[in-house]
Amino acid sequence: MKRTKIAGIGMYVPEQVVTNGDLAKVMDTSDEWIQERTGIRERRYARRFEDTTTTMGVEAAKIAMQNAGVEPREIDFIIFATLSPDYYFPGCGVLLQRAMGMKEIGALDVRNQCSGFIYALSVADQFIKTGMYKNILLVASETHSYGLDFTTRGRNVSVIFGDGAGAVVLQPATRENQGILSTHLHSDGDSAELLSMPNPGFHAGKFWKEKRPAAPKGPYGGLFITEELLEKEDVYPYMDGQAVFKKAVIKFPEVIMEALQANNLTPVDIQLLIPHQANLRISQFVQHYLRLREDQVYNNIQKYGNTTAASVPIALYEAWHGGKITDGGLVCLAAFGSGFTWASALLRW
Ligand code: UT7
Repeated sequence: MKRTKIAGIGMYVPEQVVTNGDLAKVMDTSDEWIQERTGIRERRYARRFEDTTTTMGVEAAKIAMQNAGVEPREIDFIIFATLSPDYYFPGCGVLLQRAMGMKEIGALDVRNQCSGFIYALSVADQFIKTGMYKNILLVASETHSYGLDFTTRGRNVSVIFGDGAGAVVLQPATRENQGILSTHLHSDGDSAELLSMPNPGFHAGKFWKEKRPAAPKGPYGGLFITEELLEKEDVYPYMDGQAVFKKAVIKFPEVIMEALQANNLTPVDIQLLIPHQANLRISQFVQHYLRLREDQVYNNIQKYGNTTAASVPIALYEAWHGGKITDGGLVCLAAFGSGFTWASALLRW
């Protein structure tokens, strides 16, 4: 069985730079607080009525395909990872297929939030290894800025997230020992609501009845979107930041070590760890816990904030473009986030 290699990478971030100082003008926050707690200095926000999750994904995909030397007609399968799709349904996969004029190929959407890219990579890996597909386009894109609460009420969430897209083209490996060595996927739904956006949704669970009692309208349910929900501004993401942080610093090292041990490797063997860019403090904790050198870990959250599913491919693109990954180098990707879901992938470049 042939391994799967990343044949091309691309990224796209919108032009609009929003600094911590800009956010401090619209809510009670400060550059000092944001930098100290998260490391973030600025992020990019989509241009209203121009950028969407799909259009940004298309831009990243064009670069990935150019780097891989493949045309849209050569792509066999699309996987699109996002938590901020253009439509509730259908997913962004088909919108990208249409926008890029691709053949009537399969298009799969992945809804795994921060670990969405690595989950999607794992799915693509199976299709390539079995020989079913030769060219898979995997896109991860997010438009958070359209759906955040920019009042002080939402500041613990809103200052963290940014918009952007990353993409990779996956193909069978061409060199001995090249490609994805293994992927490791996990979930624990016990804390699903601790980082969630429950509305609009079809839920009527006890947790939210107690926490946010949005009264149903109409005789049959009607919990989807009610006027009360909108009045209460109950349509934004919810995060218990401390709970997420505490779990993340356990699960990141755990899933990285799982990948290394599965391949009889240790942290010293890693050329570059690319952690999901959730919070610089989490990445630094993981770095110290695994005793990795500064140059073994790539971080760019300072410039883009947390772009959820897109953060790993954006960082991967920048690291590759900056010459930090060389042929034969061991690259580890790892993510943790909403669900909770977490995952890792180990690959030889
Ligand atoms: O990719 C998805 C995964 N997500 C994560 O990994 C996020 C993990 N969690 C975190 O990164 C951190 O928990 C945050 C950065 C979100 C928050 O930092 P924290 O140190 O856990 O702050 P906190 O939520 O405990 O809040 C501390 C204080 C509170 O004020 P009081 O109650 O002590 O007076 C908050 O109201 O900081 C306040 N606060 C802010 N102040 C200024 C919360 N957000 C802000 C803000 N600016 N943006």
